[in-house]
Amino acid sequence: MRVLVTGHQGYLGTVMVPELQRAGHEVTGLDSGYFAECVLGQAPEAPPTLSVDLRDVRAEHLAGFDAVVHLAALSNDPLGALAPQITYDINHHASVRLARLAKDAGVRRFLYASTCSVYGAAGDELVTEDAPLRPLTPYADSKVRVEDDVAALADSGFAPVFLRNATAFGFSPRLRADIVLNNLVGYAVLTGEVRVLSDGTPWRPLVHAQDIARAFAVCLTAPVEAIACRAYNIGTETNNLTVSQIAHAVVEAVPGATLAITGESGADPRSYRVDFSYARKELGFEAQWSIPDGAAELQREYVARGLTSDAFFHRFTRLAQLRSLQEAGVLDDELRRVRIGA
Ligand SMILES: NC(=O)c1ccc[n+]([C@@H]2O[C@H](COP(=O)([O-])OP(=O)(O)OC[C@H]3O[C@@H](n4cnc5c(N)ncnc54)[C@H](O)[C@@H]3O)[C@@H](O)[C@H]2O)c1
Repeated sequence: MRVLVTGHQGYLGTVMVPELQRAGHEVTGLDSGYFAECVLGQAPEAPPTLSVDLRDVRAEHLAGFDAVVHLAALSNDPLGALAPQITYDINHHASVRLARLAKDAGVRRFLYASTCSVYGAAGDELVTEDAPLRPLTPYADSKVRVEDDVAALADSGFAPVFLRNATAFGFSPRLRADIVLNNLVGYAVLTGEVRVLSDGTPWRPLVHAQDIARAFAVCLTAPVEAIACRAYNIGTETNNLTVSQIAHAVVEAVPGATLAITGESGADPRSYRVDFSYARKELGFEAQWSIPDGAAELQREYVARGLTSDAFFHRFTRLAQLRSLQEAGVLDDELRRVRIGA
């Protein structure tokens, strides 16, 4: 299958591309390259690449593809809070436009990277895909809007599917240090302390980046009836843990690390426990990675690849990296590349 992967130079995309290639797909990437140089260790092999801002995608970019895997986005809550309008422009408007262009170009499958954070403050009960969506941030809200607007485009020739991923963890050469397990392990490796800034009580379902990649691979080949206009939670119930439980797993994985739950950032209202049985039943998808195994993997890779404090707090933290590209004059206020000599 010919597959266009947007956001392929991000944390998940860098793990997804080789997974899809191993499954026999012919992959092209599309990315604005915000984090292309932010690599820990050896640079990954690049697929054929369209260096294009999502907001500037044109019909000809979509021609000839059987499927689009749409990952490109401002990918977390702090980015959304920093610039809500840009988050809506990229994550919502440009995504819906991409889906329309894909449909017009005859692309059959549109796989969208949504998030379990659409459930917002869901309490202690396990939430299924039918639960009310209560997004608490512009980031999560933008994901809900895309699901609604892209679902409205579905017809017999265009099958969108919404993969509501749990929070990712695990090693990717284009590391993200701003997601909970990656962050706690990195901080512990660098300082000897596992430091939780919240009170540790919120529920956070987690899933390994490689498991997310496999879920997308499954949706590329699943019968169209099993994916058309469906939403699937992607993760596993055994990785529904509180932040405090996650922190204890990190203490076990990082030799000599001590635990501090400071509570200095106050209560975090984003809390949800998720039911993943629908993907298991309908797609036969089962996430494989446990949190202790992921924490051990991260500890090993950080040490082997020489993670530094500077890289951890700057290059591998999405908000800090975007700010630094703006300060260097590479990106303008709207996160567009500044053309030299323009
Ligand atoms: N990582 C997680 O925990 C997680 C969980 C649930 C859902 N998701 C979703 O999965 C997707 C990928 O997440 P990630 O962790 O790899 O994020 P990431 O920030 O590492 O990657 C996002 C990629 O999108 C690209 N991008 C952003 N704006 C763009 C634009 N205007 N034009 C072209 N490219 C643009 C970036 O350059 C980057 O390569 C996102 O949509 C995210 O919301 C991620």
